[in-house]
Order: sequence, then C-alpha cells, then structure tokens
Amino acid sequence: MKPYILLAIIIIISLANGASVFKKREPKKKVRYDNYRVFKIKYKSPMQRQSLLDLTKLKQNFSLWHDDGSECNLMVAPSALPLFEERLRLVNATAEMFIANVQDLIDQENEAGTRADATFGWTRYHNLTEIDAWLDTILANHPEVTMGFVLGQSYEGRDIRGLRISYKWGNPGVFIESNIHAREWITSATATWLINELLTSKDESVRELAESHDWYIIPVLNVDGFVYTHETDRLWRKTRQPSLISDCIGVDANRNFDSHWMENGGASSDPCDETYAGPYPLSEPEIKAMSDFISILKHKMNVMLAFHSYSQLLLSPYGHTAEEFPDNYNDLMLVAKAYSDAVNGLPYGTIYKYGSSAGILYPASGATNDWAYNEQDIKISYTIEFRDTGNFGFVLPAAFIKPNAEETLIGIMALLAESKRLGYLEPKYTFDGI
Ligand SMILES: *[C@@H]1O[C@H](CO)[C@@H](O)[C@H](O)[C@H]1NC(C)=O
Ligand SMILES: *[C@@H]1O[C@H](CO)[C@@H](O)[C@H](O)[C@H]1NC(C)=O
Ligand SMILES: *[C@@H]1O[C@H](CO)[C@@H](O)[C@H](O)[C@H]1NC(C)=O
Ligand SMILES: [Zn+2]
Repeated sequence: MKPYILLAIIIIISLANGASVFKKREPKKKVRYDNYRVFKIKYKSPMQRQSLLDLTKLKQNFSLWHDDGSECNLMVAPSALPLFEERLRLVNATAEMFIANVQDLIDQENEAGTRADATFGWTRYHNLTEIDAWLDTILANHPEVTMGFVLGQSYEGRDIRGLRISYKWGNPGVFIESNIHAREWITSATATWLINELLTSKDESVRELAESHDWYIIPVLNVDGFVYTHETDRLWRKTRQPSLISDCIGVDANRNFDSHWMENGGASSDPCDETYAGPYPLSEPEIKAMSDFISILKHKMNVMLAFHSYSQLLLSPYGHTAEEFPDNYNDLMLVAKAYSDAVNGLPYGTIYKYGSSAGILYPASGATNDWAYNEQDIKISYTIEFRDTGNFGFVLPAAFIKPNAEETLIGIMALLAESKRLGYLEPKYTFDGI
C-alpha cells in the first residue's frame, strides 16, 4: 500500500473516531421541569378519581406521583394548567399545590451537601460511580466480614453490585433491595448509610443487630435507570430496555417479577405507562438476575425489605389482590407495627402507616415483596415507602437523608426483634450447610 493512501485511511479513521468521541463527550441534554407544579387532590368519589387519573394519559403534561385511593399527587406541566383547572371544576374537586417549581427543587436538592470533591457522605446524593467506588473502599476496609457480589448485568451492561455482611455462621438472612425505581434516590442513600452503620457503629444495639444477621444489600438494583436519572431525567422511574412494540422505553421493574404478573389491573400492558409490566415476566435482565440470585439463596433469606419512596408506608403482601390476605397477615401487621412504633418514638415523630399493598394503596402485581413471599417462601416481606408524605415527594432534599436513614435503622431493629419473637428468624439452612 502506498504511504499516502495509508495516511489517508488513518486520517479518515481518526476523523470518524474523533467525531464519535466528540459526540459522546457532548453534555447530555437534561430534561427540565421549569414551572412544573405538583398538587395534592383529595377524592370524594371513585368517579372523581378516575376523571383525574385520566389526565395522566396526556403523558407530556401530567404525571402521577402518588395515589392511595383517597388522595393523589399529580405533577402538572405549565402549559396544561388551564386543562387541569377545568378538570377540577368539572369534577368539583380542590387541589392544594405543594411544589410550585419542580426544577427549582431539583436544582436545590443537593444544596445542603458538601462540594463534589469531598469524601463520600450522606449530606448529598451520589451517582453510581461514586457509590461503586465507595463500595470498593468498604470491601477493602472490612475484608473479614464483607463480601462483594454481582447480581448480574443490566440491559446496558452495567454490573449490579451487592454487599454481604456476615459476622458469624448460622445467622438469619436479611435481603435489602434498593433503587429498583430509578428516581427514588433516598433509597440508595439510606442503604449505603445503613451499610456504614452496620460496619462502623459503636452503639451496642447496632452491633448486636449487625452481628446477629447476615445482610445482603443491593444499593442500586436498577443501575441503568439510576444513571439516567443523574444524567438525563431526574424523574425517570423504569428500566432502560427498549420495547419491541413501541418507541417508549423501559419497564416498571417492580411489576416484572414472576408472581401474579399482570393480574387484577395491578400493572399496565402499555409500554408508555409508568407501571408497564414488561412483555413477559422477568423480561428485564435486572429482575431476572435478582430472581435467579434469591432462588439459589432463598433458604438463607428470612426477611425481604424493598426500599422505595415516598409516602411513609410499610406494605406487606398481597399486592395483586385486596380480597385475600396472606396466612400470617396478623404477624406481618405486628411486625410492621413494631417498625412504625419505633420510628414514631424517635424525636422526629415520623408516622408510618402499614397494611397490605393492595389494601392500603391499589393493586400492584409482580412486585418484589409479593414475589419473595409467594414464590421464595420469605414470610417477612415488605415494601417500605420512605419519607415524605407530600412536601418534596421524589425530590427529597439531601438534608433529609440522615433523619430518614436513622428512622430506617431503628425501624429495622424493631422489625427484626418482633420477627424473632414470632419465630421467623430461625435459620433456614438446609442439611448441606450451604
Ligand atoms: C401538552 O404537552 C405538549 C408537549 O409539551 C404540548 O404541545 C401541549 O400543548 C400540551 N397540552 C396541553 C393541554 O397543555
Ligand atoms: C361541590 O363540592 C362542595 C364542597 O364539597 C359541595 O358543597 C357542593 O355541593 C358540590 N357541588 C356539586 C355540584 O357536586
Ligand atoms: C459522579 O459525580 C462526581 C462528583 O460530582 C463527578 O465528578 C463525576 O463526573 C460523576 N460521574 C458520572 C459518571 O457522572
Ligand atoms: Zn418505588
């Protein structure tokens, strides 16, 4: 080959590469929520409710943040305010605005926090790179009692990382799933704080808690969605796997488990909906990975806790129906009450309500806590919805991370003590001792 031809080829290749590198480095365009408002609307009738929820079919302009059957929280785009007001008049309902500008809240979310170059802490929210680096530090600093593991890979090929903490042989197992919903940042902030407490607290009751259970903690399950909330859209909820039948992206991972999947209107079959259950159960690689992992280790797991926000609720099975209740429902309520009472006993006085998912909220099928209970024989199984009850919603300022995490620790302590009293923490180890 003639040298000048080679040179030309090299130039063309490097130009092509240069272009693609440039494209990648271009700052990603972030979705903005300037002057988006969030309202609290109380229902008096199911017809009012339906009429208001119908607005969320206009996806660009309305987004449902919360619905418990007696009240909903609805985010409204500025251009859709006239339509919203007209609908309120039509159904004779009144709305109370609690966020005047969602973008302002997003901009201020980390304001109380230290600068980006400070060490990992709980005064601001961290991205996945920072959380992964912190996990490496934790593993390096506590090699005797920690073990890192990878659940599997996400759709975009990221590792879904977990941490096991075990101080001794024969402990009952507690599995904590966090950030299955991408925008619920308070959940991974709380999970990492909890890991740190379990490993470093000098408090006697925390030492007892840490050392008498085996902990399996996934700080960020929906890694792709989580990265997307940091880089592109703060309010993204779903996974990032494209659909074959629609331009809409992502599945509600907490509707994708293989247990009463898509039953009783507990999820949507529309890929554009926030509660899209996916084309089939376990279609999401993140959920398939979690399902495989737990299936192998289920004899070690006594307790499943799935961290969510927001609403301050402990939700037990069932999610797929409000007509039936699990066999040990009374025990599940006693254990939930112990959590709620303990949290309420702290100086913050925060109130957590409890009940079954379908009973207290609305049918939601294919969720982690139901699947763990129904299919994996984990009889103490809850979804925990963290702070708040409609002041900041998903965009909880970083100043609330520590109070929320302290409540979670005290709550879990009481939850496990009550579970033990009721006989649920007997080790489930099989004869082969695995
Ligand atoms: C809804 O949003 C779209 C896209 O932003 C906009 O073009 C449209 O006018 C909005 N509809 C209403 C009723 O405000
Ligand atoms: C609208 O709501 C108000 C207050 O609840 C009530 O007094 C009034 O009768 C209602 N009007 C209609 C048409 O339902
Ligand atoms: C994560 O956050 C740190 C600190 O703000 C920043 O330096 C880094 O670029 C971020 N990483 C990614 C992948 O966004
Ligand atoms: Zn959630």
